[in-house]
Amino acid sequence: MAPEDDYTAEPFVPVRGGLPALRRAAADCRGCPLHRDATRTVFGAGSAQARVMLVGEQPGDQEDQQGKPFVGPAGKLLDRALAEAGIDPGEAYVTNAVKHFKFTRAEPRKRRIHKAPNLREMSACSPWLAAELAVVEPELIVVLGATAGKALLGSSFRVGEVRGTVLEEEIHGRPERLVPTVHPSSVLRADDREGAYQGLVQDLRTAARVLSKDRSKD
Ligand code: URA
Ligand code: SF4
Repeated sequence: MAPEDDYTAEPFVPVRGGLPALRRAAADCRGCPLHRDATRTVFGAGSAQARVMLVGEQPGDQEDQQGKPFVGPAGKLLDRALAEAGIDPGEAYVTNAVKHFKFTRAEPRKRRIHKAPNLREMSACSPWLAAELAVVEPELIVVLGATAGKALLGSSFRVGEVRGTVLEEEIHGRPERLVPTVHPSSVLRADDREGAYQGLVQDLRTAARVLSKDRSKD
């Protein structure tokens, strides 16, 4: 059997102890080769009581250095868009489909360039996301871009087809509600940055509406 078929975080995931135990254990995950070159595991951040979980792709350069998700340029843009849509960024649980930074360098000691994780790395890392979902039990998942979408909904996911809509799907054995949107990094790369930003805010407003409807049922 090829060793790459064995990539999985599963044996590292504790069954008890909530988010603190998960975070501690994830720091030592060796479930796939991505831990070798990255500085540290970047686990999710936020309260176990959060009503909304935001799922991105993988930590970037800044996140790898600071050990927290979405603290770099994409995260700053995301926080601004969330606030504008009426979602308090401080009340969200924020995480990634893959917990280690994957990168290449054009030359030794040069800047690290983000590289998208492949399907094998995504599925190796998925037990961490499943465990976060089981503990946080969010009312809504906001799917940020194609990698998060494929990790949660399968490889046929296309963000352009479903962005801004409310999906109901079974994920890791539980019924979940999801609103997909673009990844905030894609807004930073867009030619029409303002248009792309407004599109993100509009999708996040859909998420905010779902959350406010839920609250009015209490
Ligand atoms: N992009 C992501 O997908 N996640 C982060 O944490 C930072 C940038
Ligand atoms: Fe473990 Fe995920 Fe890091 Fe791979 S990317 S070593 S599965 S935490």
